[in-house]
Amino acid sequence: MNRGNYKYLILIVLIAVAGVSLWGWTVLSRGFSARDEPGSTEAFVAGRMRRMAIPRTARDAKNPVAASPEVISGAMKHFADHCAICHANDGAGKR
Ligand code: HEC
Repeated sequence: MNRGNYKYLILIVLIAVAGVSLWGWTVLSRGFSARDEPGSTEAFVAGRMRRMAIPRTARDAKNPVAASPEVISGAMKHFADHCAICHANDGAGKR
């Protein structure tokens, strides 16, 4: 590599450092909160990571119980009795 090429490399590194610093400054000045809606990048990465964390056999598993009005009704009663205290009866998580 001759001297001219090093100047471009240094320029590219400086631009990258400036870009990362600007991004870091915006993130730090905004702060973090679990209440914020995640940005599209975070939502994409988190979705991919969650998918990766689920074993394929579990991901491809099918419900062995066929849906019927009786099964759905029983499941809703079970959810109301055992799950709604924390998850709310509509699953919203708000009591
Ligand atoms: C004592 C409170 C409580 C009860 C009762 C409860 N849950 Fe949960 N559930 C939680 C909490 C807290 C989490 C989040 C756990 C975590 O993210 O580590 C959770 C997570 C979940 C998740 C994962 C949600 C997600 O987005 O990853 C499912 C599915 C779930 N519960 C279903 C149920 C079902 C079905 C029942 C009833 C059979 C039930 N829960 C009963 C507190 C409860």
